[in-house]
Amino acid sequence: MNTWPKSLELLKKNEKWIPGGVVSLNRKSDPNICFSKGIGSKVWDIEGNEYIDYQAGFAAAFLGHNDPDVNNAVKESLDNNTILMGAGPTDLEGQLAELFCQCVPTIEQIQLTTTGSEATYHAIRIARAVTKRDHVIIMQGGYNGWHNDVAGNVISNLSDIGARVSPGEYPFDSLSAGIPQSHKSLVHVVNYNDLDSISYVMKRYPVACIILEPILQNIGIVKPLPGYLEGLRKLADEDGSLLVFDEVKTGFRHALGGYQSICEVTPDLSTFGKAVANGYPMGVIGGKKKFMDYFVRPEKSERVLIAGTFNAHPLISIAAIATLQKLASPKHKVYEHVNKLGERLEQGLTEIFNRYDSPFYVAREGSAFCVYFMDHAPVDFHDIAMNNNFAFDKEYRLKLIEKGIFNFPLPIKQGSISFAHSIRDIDETLEKTQSVVSDLLKN
Ligand SMILES: Cc1ncc(COP(=O)(O)O)c(C=O)c1O
Repeated sequence: MNTWPKSLELLKKNEKWIPGGVVSLNRKSDPNICFSKGIGSKVWDIEGNEYIDYQAGFAAAFLGHNDPDVNNAVKESLDNNTILMGAGPTDLEGQLAELFCQCVPTIEQIQLTTTGSEATYHAIRIARAVTKRDHVIIMQGGYNGWHNDVAGNVISNLSDIGARVSPGEYPFDSLSAGIPQSHKSLVHVVNYNDLDSISYVMKRYPVACIILEPILQNIGIVKPLPGYLEGLRKLADEDGSLLVFDEVKTGFRHALGGYQSICEVTPDLSTFGKAVANGYPMGVIGGKKKFMDYFVRPEKSERVLIAGTFNAHPLISIAAIATLQKLASPKHKVYEHVNKLGERLEQGLTEIFNRYDSPFYVAREGSAFCVYFMDHAPVDFHDIAMNNNFAFDKEYRLKLIEKGIFNFPLPIKQGSISFAHSIRDIDETLEKTQSVVSDLLKN
């Protein structure tokens, strides 16, 4: 049994200067493992153990850790008089915006932020400015960042949120203290894949927008039922509210054009982050020009503020341009490669679990996957909370970590295959999974 003593020591040392010892509390893990190096598909902890990594910096390192093309572009620019000036537009941000809109043709204009949370924050602000309404609909089991409108209801206890009723309103199960009650009363949490609840809220409240991950990827992989996203589009149009796709996780991972290019439903606004700069910090808000225009409305009372010292930081912009160029390049065939690996992993995992008489479901979209320990594809968070075997899920992840396969050690967290993964990585993962599963389920 690994014990990670150096990791514990580091945590204790950090705790003196940082509350909790770690700067993003959702990185806190049990067991506590500290990593020091990542190259391609592999990461190393500070004890020197090597892992095939499926955490990918919470899905950001889509090309793999320290992708050489992205890193070289950044390195070259360091010696190239790349400056953060803070006055006027830059050529780089223009180049990036043009390339971005070519990659995601359903988006006419973008603005750049440093994180995904800022992007979702701005999307909601624009929706409120456009509609002159305040209420927002979010998804139970969705995650859209840390700010007041959205910091709730990711992996809640059913005792806090109650059973699913349809149509209905669900309490805002806050992820954070310090959110004003008045703010919480503007947010309506509904179950994903449930259009009746959306109509119910829209009939009762002036809704500015529905914001959702088009596939819920912070509770594994929960896909839209046929017609669901189209239904959202229709309800938003009828209601005069905006539809916002939070593609911070799905964007660029599933297709160059975002998941919106796969599902063929065009939202009014979209947000991106994570994979867009292969792990360098960048968020993007984009959409139809008529809505993006609110950033520059001539009437001050209609204008939405966007500001940030580090927005479109030159080094990050260079990383994003290099990432998008590589994703778009026919030479690399990124999507073909990761989808092939995803299929191989799904098929292998299914074969392994089929040998045992224990419920499982391998959910996958392209390179993103999650094994649930329940007997069907989940339709929403309540379905998972009521049916997934969380204790087994935790044990399964721990045993895999001990064998050098790193998935985040929290049940129902999604795994991410990167472009740097190889067939050999997948096969080694499957071999080790077989050994873990046969230990756990002892046929
Ligand atoms: C779907 C989604 N939206 C928004 C965010 C927030 O992005 P960031 O952590 O860059 O602020 C995340 C982060 O995990 C996310 O998964």
